[in-house]
Amino acid sequence: MSDKIIAAVDIGSYKVATVVGVSSSESNELRIIGFHSSPSRGVKKGLIVDIDEITMAVEESVEKTERMAGHKINQVFISVGGPHISSINSHGVVAISNPQSEIIEDDVNRAIEAARAISISNTRQVIEVIPREYVVDGQAGIKNPIGMTGVRLEVDTHIITASLTNLKNLNRSLSELGLNNSGYIFAGLASAEAVLTETEKELGVVLVDIGGGKTDICLFVEGALSYSSSIPVGAKHITNDIAVGLRVSLQSAEKIKLHLSHHFSNKKEPGKKDAELNLISLHLPENVSSVTLKSLTDGIIAPRLEEIYKLVSDEIEKSGFSNSVPSGLVITGGGAMTVGMIEIGRRFMEMPIRIGVPAEITGLVDEILNPQFSTTVGLLLYGQKNIIPEVGWKNFNKILRDVSLGNSINKIKEFFKQFIP
Ligand SMILES: Nc1ncnc2c1ncn2[C@@H]1O[C@H](COP(=O)(O)OP(=O)(O)OP(=O)(O)O)[C@@H](O)[C@H]1O
Ligand SMILES: [Mg+2]
Repeated sequence: MSDKIIAAVDIGSYKVATVVGVSSSESNELRIIGFHSSPSRGVKKGLIVDIDEITMAVEESVEKTERMAGHKINQVFISVGGPHISSINSHGVVAISNPQSEIIEDDVNRAIEAARAISISNTRQVIEVIPREYVVDGQAGIKNPIGMTGVRLEVDTHIITASLTNLKNLNRSLSELGLNNSGYIFAGLASAEAVLTETEKELGVVLVDIGGGKTDICLFVEGALSYSSSIPVGAKHITNDIAVGLRVSLQSAEKIKLHLSHHFSNKKEPGKKDAELNLISLHLPENVSSVTLKSLTDGIIAPRLEEIYKLVSDEIEKSGFSNSVPSGLVITGGGAMTVGMIEIGRRFMEMPIRIGVPAEITGLVDEILNPQFSTTVGLLLYGQKNIIPEVGWKNFNKILRDVSLGNSINKIKEFFKQFIP
């Protein structure tokens, strides 16, 4: 089978990042051939607030990525996140069509369809339906029931929904640029795909992507996605606090925040907390030349990080799985690089915590192997798993088997729609 070019646009509140990769069908390898990230405009807390602004930002990002890759981008996976995201676990039950013989793909699809039949408001749209486990004649914990024998098939699914208005706005922006939408992917789920290990997912883990304007959460129990949500607080709030605390503009506060991270990551021994952080090299218009490390880290940043951790902890509590995540938290997104993230988190959450950096890609990866681009990389990795190679109807059975193995039925259906006249 031939290699396939896949592309994704991660529309964040802080940046718009486009990535193109070559997906090898034989080795499952993903080789990055183009990438560009530029400041986002027209998005707040994951919601589009100005279509023209975001369209221009996406256009610029896509064009620069195309130039780098030497390939035209025609269709893209798109990240969706923000507090309009909600999730529900739903159960579906069907009688097996021919109880004398094996369970076939059609039974599995009917079970998933039955689980999908939840009543949602007409202002929302289902963006993901993921089978968590199957139950055959009362026997639970089955990952793939095809080929088994039984009379009753049940499925537990995780369903993610999003605001229809926001999805329509995203689509409008893409269609203005002549880009086809390969599928919406929840940003938290994309990040999870890029940074979590299979062992963490099996043991139970919470992925926390702290972006500029929002924090996306995906909780995995026994390998299955079990809770998804998004909090309208992100690392821009830390910048705001620095601006207020030091009486500087937001631009200066952002520079100070990044300078502080740089200071801590560059020095093995960053110095005592009462030491001053020299700001002269930043040439701030406010003429602030230094600030004590302690006032920045303990006085301004720590309380906001504690607030973010409190909100994450509330979400874990809300999920009902707080006792099922021994692998703790994996923090990613640009906000994960905030000074004190790990120390404050370990103290506050009393759980194992690590920073998640995207993995499993090759090629032009220098810039992209950074927590800020976990969603961006994850869109390609998740998309790669859900993409169907160029096939005809002959391979219909294989595709349905892929569906039953955990791929999103939604995207597969979308794929088939294009063949229906
Ligand atoms: N080295 C760093 N140290 C501290 N903070 C950083 C660093 N690099 C980036 N950030 C912060 O990360 C945030 C942006 O993260 P990210 O790029 O993941 O956001 P986004 O995906 O655009 O937004 P969202 O997902 O919320 O819509 C900004 O607030 C930025 O200040
Ligand atoms: Mg993001």
